[in-house]
Amino acid sequence: MTVLVLGGAGYIGSHMVDRLVEQGSDVAVVDNLVKGHRAAVRTEARFYQGDIRDKDFMRSIFTKEDIKSVVHFAAYSIVPESMEKPLDYFDNNTAGLINVLEVMNEFDVKRIVFSSTAATYGTPDSVPIKETDTQKPINPYGESKLMMEKIMRWTDQAYGIRFVALRYFNVAGAKADGSIGEDHGPETHLVPIVLQVANGQRDKLKIFGDDYDTPDGTNVRDYVHVVDLADAHILALKYLEDGNKSDVFNLGSATGFSNRQILEAARKATGKTIPAEDAPRRLGDPDTLVADSSKARTILGWQPQYDDIEKIIATAWKWHSTHPNGYNDK
Ligand code: UFG
Repeated sequence: MTVLVLGGAGYIGSHMVDRLVEQGSDVAVVDNLVKGHRAAVRTEARFYQGDIRDKDFMRSIFTKEDIKSVVHFAAYSIVPESMEKPLDYFDNNTAGLINVLEVMNEFDVKRIVFSSTAATYGTPDSVPIKETDTQKPINPYGESKLMMEKIMRWTDQAYGIRFVALRYFNVAGAKADGSIGEDHGPETHLVPIVLQVANGQRDKLKIFGDDYDTPDGTNVRDYVHVVDLADAHILALKYLEDGNKSDVFNLGSATGFSNRQILEAARKATGKTIPAEDAPRRLGDPDTLVADSSKARTILGWQPQYDDIEKIIATAWKWHSTHPNGYNDK
């Protein structure tokens, strides 16, 4: 029986495939390679290039493979881009999921783990954020994912497709040996951008906004290591295989770091100066996002291995310093 990883050539998906293969699972990967990289996917996994919105293509995969569970990463995830192109997000993320669920239902596949996000909470009423807190997204990315969560609840009720929605906070880092990592084009995320400055590929970091309601005026985020995140998906698959009910879990570290603190941690992790300047706010950024992820720890038994931001950044630095042009350096 096979685990089907949708979006398995992306940043988080490729780390998931790596962990699944390492623990002996049989893995098939679907990715349209619009954002993903073929070289990021372990050769032990069977790879199919195509789009989750293409129903005939998806049917052909479910016909060829004996799929027991689906792990779904195939989505757009850039907050500022979603503000400019909301329909792309509702099409690829929300409508994409509908297609996946229709094909799963046709083929009687009843388990799915999928990527939700802290962005579904919008501006939180209080931190740390609990799963039961109000979800009021302030950008189309978060809205597209909240719609996906709601769709999942109704399809569970109607067709018995059980799901785990994992609400990620800010994901960073890379596999410890530096062989796979983050490679977005164009890059918009804080940690890889800071490291591109450290690498001399950018002149300086622009810190977006210095007048937020936070201790140093810059946004506060909760960083979780990509390998710890992948491990949470493996636990979620087991949770569903054990017959447990559908549920949602926050995945974060419970510690917030401001954008300035990330810059300082990166200076320490790399030993580089990393020039930076304050810049205007970016659209769609809430002040603070910090997770209460005790539910994942208690129910899934999740125990993140990386609890130190400098160590998380150091693994990302190992990847970026050896692959300044990402997978083009292969
Ligand atoms: N930032 C800068 N300068 C940059 C890039 C980012 O100051 O050059 C700031 C942003 O304004 C924000 C913080 O760094 O305050 C983090 O920004 P990222 O783009 O790295 O991450 P986001 O918090 O916007 O979003 C990420 C994921 C989303 C997820 C969200 C949940 O991309 O998918 O975390 O917290 F929903």
